Formats: sequence, C-alpha cells, structure tokens
Amino acid sequence: MRKNIVAGNWKMNTTLQEGVELANEINTLLEGKSKNCEVVICVPFTHLTSVNAVIEPSIIGLGAENCSEHESGAYTGEVSASMVKSTGATHVILGHSERRQYFGENNEQLLAKTKQALANGLTPIFCVGEVLEERENGTYNDVVRSQVEALFSLSADDFAKIIIAYEPVWAIGTGKTATAEQAQDMHANIRHTIEEKYGKELADNTSILYGGSCKPGNAPELFAKPDVDGGLIGGAALKADSFIGIIEAFN
Ligand code: PGA
Repeated sequence: MRKNIVAGNWKMNTTLQEGVELANEINTLLEGKSKNCEVVICVPFTHLTSVNAVIEPSIIGLGAENCSEHESGAYTGEVSASMVKSTGATHVILGHSERRQYFGENNEQLLAKTKQALANGLTPIFCVGEVLEERENGTYNDVVRSQVEALFSLSADDFAKIIIAYEPVWAIGTGKTATAEQAQDMHANIRHTIEEKYGKELADNTSILYGGSCKPGNAPELFAKPDVDGGLIGGAALKADSFIGIIEAFN
C-alpha cells in the first residue's frame, strides 16, 4: 500500500547555520518517537550536505527543492540531479508552483528534470495545482490533469517511483487552505487520471500529498481523507514544533 508522507519545503529560508540547527532539532524531537508516516525535509542546495550530517536517515529523508533538467556541463549556476544525490539526498521537489510561475518552468522541462532525478535514484515530489482563476472558472480539474499527464511518457516502473503533491496555488502561503473536501476531490481526480494510464494497482500505490497552508490545526482533517496521503509543508515546516505537530496528525 501507499505510504503516508510529511515533507517540509523550506523554500529560500534559513542560513546554513539556522538550517542545520532546525534539522537537528527536528531529528532530536523525532528520535525514539513512533510515527505513522515518513518524514522528509527539502532544503536549499547549500544546506544539503550539512543537514545530511545531522539527521538520521532512518528518521528523516532529505530532499532538494529543484534540480537541473541537464545532466552536466556548461549551465552556470545550475545544480544537477547527480550533484544532489551525491550529498546524500534521497528526494527532490519538482514543478513547485513558484518554479512554474517565477522561473517559467514548463511541462517539457519538468519531464526532463523528472527523468534526471529518476536516472540518479532520487524520488521526485512532483507538484501540481491550479491558480485562483482556474479554481474560480471551474477548469481546475483539467488543469491539474494536464500537469499530471505531462509525465505520462514515463514507463510504469518510473512513474511508480514518483510522489505527487497537489498544491492549489491560491492556498500556498496565504493562510487559505483548501477544505478537506476540495483536497479529497482533487486527489481522487488525480488518482483516477493515473489509473486510466497506469492501472489501478499503480494508482492505489501512489502517494498524493496536499500542500497549501497545512498546519497542525488542519492536518488531521485533511489527512483523514482517503486519498490524502500526507502533506508538503512550507511555512509550518520552518518551526520544529509545528512541523512535528503535523507529523503527529498521523498518530
Ligand atoms: P505553505 O507552502 O505551507 O507555506 O502554504 C506549501 C508549499 O509551497 O509547498
């Protein structure tokens, strides 16, 4: 069966020293605690190696927030999937709405990034989600479906390695969460889209996380929905106690 996962997305926050301290604190608080989900923290590139040194891999997985669509070479300022992997990271967030919106990442690039991640043994946390206008004009199901379909040239073996994160853009960092029903409806739609292409077993085994103003207060209701398999957490992942509070929603 699919895994429950709580993943933190630190975005462009914390200095190296603050990040190491936060990772250490989360690791210490989780040590010896039983939890009913996997925990991953996705941190800036500069932090990966140092954070890896202070977390216990059996307690917390480590991820980057992006990687290049290219393998290596003359791409000044870019970071490849193999570089990310070589830090000890296991995951990488791809297609976050901030990357799509501010850095113009498109479906073609995101497919290439996903292939790079998979070729280097990283688990992609692939983000999809509609903007407010698409929610309001009723096209949100089609928008998200086409974002998921962007990966449909992958083999079933490869697609099976991907975690999907549904993050309605209007809910990210706004304090405005999707209702548990809105999240459930979309997650069921995503799972159905995957089922049509790859079959029921693979769809049932795909973890689909919710992201967008998820907090300890609303996580239990969201995670109780049958197709919501955890969360991708931004703001609330930057404080150890609120991040742990969300992890505890699975207890
Ligand atoms: P938020 O961000 O929890 O701060 O809304 C979620 C995300 O962007 O991954």
